[in-house]
Amino acid sequence: MTSKLLLKARDFESRYAPYITPEERPAFHMTPSIGWMNDPNGFSVYKGEYHLFYQYNPYDTKWDLMHWGHVKTRDFIRWERLPVALAPDMPYDQNGCFSGSAVELPDGRQMLVYTGVRQTRQKNGKIQDRQTQCVAIGDGVDYEKAACNPVIGSDALPQGGSMQDFRDPKVWWDEDRLRMVVGNRPADGSGSVLMYESEDGLSWRYDGLLASCHNQYGRMWECPDFFRLDGKDILLVSPQEMSPVGLEFHAGNGTACIIGTFDPKTCHQVRESVQAVDYGLDFYAPQTLETPDGRRVMIAWMQNWETVNCQPRGIRYFGEMTLPRELSIRDGRLIQNPVRELEKYRGYQILYRNVQFSGNTALGNVKGRVLDMTVNVRPAMETMLYHSFRINVASDGEHYVSIRYKPENNTIRIDRTHSGFPHDIVSVRDFMVRPNRGEIKLRLILDRHSLELFVNNGEQAATAMIYTDQSADAISFEADGCVVMDVEKYDLIVN
Ligand code: FRU
Repeated sequence: MTSKLLLKARDFESRYAPYITPEERPAFHMTPSIGWMNDPNGFSVYKGEYHLFYQYNPYDTKWDLMHWGHVKTRDFIRWERLPVALAPDMPYDQNGCFSGSAVELPDGRQMLVYTGVRQTRQKNGKIQDRQTQCVAIGDGVDYEKAACNPVIGSDALPQGGSMQDFRDPKVWWDEDRLRMVVGNRPADGSGSVLMYESEDGLSWRYDGLLASCHNQYGRMWECPDFFRLDGKDILLVSPQEMSPVGLEFHAGNGTACIIGTFDPKTCHQVRESVQAVDYGLDFYAPQTLETPDGRRVMIAWMQNWETVNCQPRGIRYFGEMTLPRELSIRDGRLIQNPVRELEKYRGYQILYRNVQFSGNTALGNVKGRVLDMTVNVRPAMETMLYHSFRINVASDGEHYVSIRYKPENNTIRIDRTHSGFPHDIVSVRDFMVRPNRGEIKLRLILDRHSLELFVNNGEQAATAMIYTDQSADAISFEADGCVVMDVEKYDLIVN
């Protein structure tokens, strides 16, 4: 059924999105057609293509009544726009179609599973959310909401579970049945992940409590994802209201990767370790899919709820997704690297080997804002550790964004204080890296407004938006002490 609300949204985006020029957008990171975007939704394979939906308010660059926007891709780099998929047009989702996921059904149709939000006024005058899980089934463009929605309501919550905070279902096939993980707030006010199963996606059984945070890693856990990877069972969650823990977790909205083993008898994940997913400034609500060739690929919203109200002036869309990243587990830790498809878009190689220097230096042809650059650095003399090594990007003399490595305390600092953004947002993040006597590998992906850093072949990733004017495209290197570096740089050419 194509409702008035859906038609209005589709009409709005087809009328006004064409005014946004390609230069206003990044070259290969996914952006909304127009208006506001937050979480990735329904990141999945359908009929051999990768589909991605997103939390979407086409009408403004601020969060409001949530729709689902829609794109698809064959290689994670070039995205094809499709019309708005869902509008909040039913009584059970009239206050928003919140985050969720998608699967292909055995009959060839695509099923979207999302949280429907309906607000009611309480006796005390307060407005309260009622969140339920709903489905819509379609052909990859048009979707019909199920007549039996909501398919999971408050009656299927465990005791003490909150119906105000019951959202973000992630669904996948486990042989011939569907499984779902969904975020909930139990009676202690913190976060938990519930598990359900179903044969047809319409009627669901509660299986048990997969994991709970007991107020240790934030409170409400948003956007859970659960999958097997290299012999481990991995739970990704996006906690709200985190407290800082060393340099691992910062305050506010964060992301956590919980590595463990799933016990099918208790339906519980036995926890082995917990780490941050991304160590930068702008990363939230990651979601994964499995490619036909067996890779686990993750995408996330490249933003931060704390700073979304500070936006560049005059923009007509707001929000970007990260570059999709391939995941693996190495030495008990989550490893992430840009999808290999990116390499097809590399232009000429610029290569410098064994550049020895101290102080400042720049290298011929090493500049730009849409590029893939890997820098290997090490001490010039084994016996003399240098104090710090810094890469400045998006620089024009006045502005720059820096990545600084300090071998003596094994930290990296990302700093966008001087990026030219006229708002007092959080701009610095420090994180620990593996001690390695001053030897480190830094891969930087720049795409006009963003920087994604991958350390030591994906041992850590750190992401930040940088709104510096595109004319600031110089790159320089600084060393306090004497270093030797190799630099391999490619422009990325996507048109
Ligand atoms: C996470 C989130 C989800 C919710 C959606 C609403 O960023 O708060 O929990 O479904 O955004 O847009």
